[in-house]
Amino acid sequence: MQQCLRIYGKQKTSGSIRINGAKNSAVAILPASLLTGKTVKIENLPRITDIDRLIEILSALGAKISFLTETSLEIDLSGVNSYSPPPELVNQLRASYYLMGSLLGRFKKVNILMPGGCDLGPRPIDQHIKGFTALGADVELDKGVMKLRAKKLKGAHIYLDIVSVGATINIMLAAVLAEGKTVIENVAKEPEIVDVANFLNAMGAKIRGAGTDVIKIQGVKELGSAEHIVIPDRIEAGTFLIAAAATGGEVLVKDIIPKHLDAIIAKLKEVGVSLDIGLDWARVKSSGCLKPSDVKTFPYPGFPTDLQPHMMVLLTRSRGTSLITENVFERRFRHIDELKKMGARIKLEGRSAIIEGGHELTGARLEAMDLRGGASFIIAALISNGETEIRGVEHIDRGYEKIEERFRLLGVNIERFCEP
Ligand code: EPZ
Repeated sequence: MQQCLRIYGKQKTSGSIRINGAKNSAVAILPASLLTGKTVKIENLPRITDIDRLIEILSALGAKISFLTETSLEIDLSGVNSYSPPPELVNQLRASYYLMGSLLGRFKKVNILMPGGCDLGPRPIDQHIKGFTALGADVELDKGVMKLRAKKLKGAHIYLDIVSVGATINIMLAAVLAEGKTVIENVAKEPEIVDVANFLNAMGAKIRGAGTDVIKIQGVKELGSAEHIVIPDRIEAGTFLIAAAATGGEVLVKDIIPKHLDAIIAKLKEVGVSLDIGLDWARVKSSGCLKPSDVKTFPYPGFPTDLQPHMMVLLTRSRGTSLITENVFERRFRHIDELKKMGARIKLEGRSAIIEGGHELTGARLEAMDLRGGASFIIAALISNGETEIRGVEHIDRGYEKIEERFRLLGVNIERFCEP
């Protein structure tokens, strides 16, 4: 059965919404817990399918997991006894690559299938491997299964050739229990990396510099128990801010860290959206009358690639020509063909999309092919004339918790249905 959404056009989002825990923190924090043999408590977990899969993987490895509330978990890791996560689960999400760093740290060996996840063009993991090798691991790829082996892990000086979120976190995970000091240079600075480092430090790791270009890790012998609250999801927050901006509604987005949204807030203001920002909230008010803009995606603190499709939909509303340049992923533009079915005038030139705004969109039957592109279709549907159906909603469910219920909180008429 295929999950689908039906959305009626010309609707405004209005009201208030509390933002859930960050997907890209949570999907690293669960694997990170494997580094201890004790019990950890994690709060503010988003209830998305990527997290469901990780819970199944951790359980298969021997962890005992109990839900304390809808969004908090206790994980007893004393029974973890396997370093071979089930391939049929691993291939369902990208973040399963974090099991490499954590299982390598804990057992000094891992057998793992190459990770799945959204197709955003080539997504190599050479920088992850470079880090593991520098720490003393041997790496072998056998019929799609990666085998990592180390007699012991020893601190090293690692310079990343590419700023990578995944490589930064994965090397950090592997280095926490290594002997001696590890220095990782040219690392990514995303808030989710700081969140994972804070969780590891709460378990007894010695990590400094997360959130800057250089992370220094003094290896420790073992980790203990910890309690941690996952930070709010800046991409979910950005999704609702952009939705309100596009539909001309007024929305209060609560329980956020506004600093994490600086690039998004700045861009929204630039195109003419009015925003009030509080300590942990943002209120967006938009007349729907927008100016064109140039947007370039970059690693944090630049404009996030994960909101590039949403921004593209917003810019179809502005009068004039806008340019979006995707600098993080080579081919994260699969949403364009679908948006064109709605009448969007978008031309792709290399890594840039030229958007001729100010033309009405019309409802259409769309196919979500990745998580963020899929979410952007909901915004496109809301501003269009007529009815839109989105198929492939499984992709959206990987990173947004019950997306239709969330939009309904903002007064939107949206239905989920299944199709054979
Ligand atoms: C993380 O992916 C996120 N995923 C992505 O979230 C996000 O889009 C991306 O960071 C950028 O912010 C998770 O956190 C699970 P990268 P990741 O390594 O770690 C190249 C979402 O929708 N690269 O920072 O895979 C790579 O090809 C998603 O929530 C190498 O060449 O991204 C890309 O061009 C999808 N070699 C660039 O670096 C490597 O070894 C940045 O990728 C690693 C990466």
